[in-house]
Amino acid sequence: MLRQSLRPARLRVLTARSVPAPIACAKLWRPYSDEAKTAIQPGSISEVIHQDHRQIEKYYDKIVNSSDHDVQRRYQNAFVWELARHAIAEELVVYPSIETGLNDGREMADKDRAEHQVAKEQLYTFQNLEPGDRHFIPTLEALMKDLKMHIKEEEEHDLVKLEAALVPSRSRKLAEQFEMTKAFTPTRSHPGAPNKPPFETAVGLLTAPLDKIRDIFRSWPEEYSARPPSGGPSR
Ligand SMILES: [Fe+2]
Ligand SMILES: [Fe+2]
Repeated sequence: MLRQSLRPARLRVLTARSVPAPIACAKLWRPYSDEAKTAIQPGSISEVIHQDHRQIEKYYDKIVNSSDHDVQRRYQNAFVWELARHAIAEELVVYPSIETGLNDGREMADKDRAEHQVAKEQLYTFQNLEPGDRHFIPTLEALMKDLKMHIKEEEEHDLVKLEAALVPSRSRKLAEQFEMTKAFTPTRSHPGAPNKPPFETAVGLLTAPLDKIRDIFRSWPEEYSARPPSGGPSR
């Protein structure tokens, strides 16, 4: 798996310089064409994002299909952990590439960021609810209803256009940067944090350590041997 292939030496402190810079080099982009719309390639940025989406959906299913509060608590933590990291990594790695590389990228990225902001606020409410609370499931369902639309748009529109414009090696590089970035992002929702460069990086770095310390004391799904903060659930 990609995450396992990353060497510790590469997991150094995330700085503004290690966040993907706007890409203008012609070698990294290719002219948009219908032929470029191919199946998801192994190791591509699309593949890692699709994997995250399926994981988020799986945690959601575990919560709504259980009546055991302990199980719901464990998967609530896993859901928040996965979605919080995924959203910020997209904002740091994927949306800047969409913004700079696609003709209508600015509008696409702004729309995605606005949808993320809604999701983060919903996630913030959800992460503070107890499984026995009467708002617990309705809050999660409302969050997921909007999130499923966002996921569908990303998978069927945004990522398709991005992959069509990227050379394959650049897509794989973005996938590596995406996974590395997730190691440094906050693991809980902080809807007040900026979601556009350059401030998102600094705020994320400040917030992430506290989240990770608190993760130590949270409960996690028992099916996973490697859990946060030591790397998180393995797929
Ligand atoms: Fe997203
Ligand atoms: Fe996503």
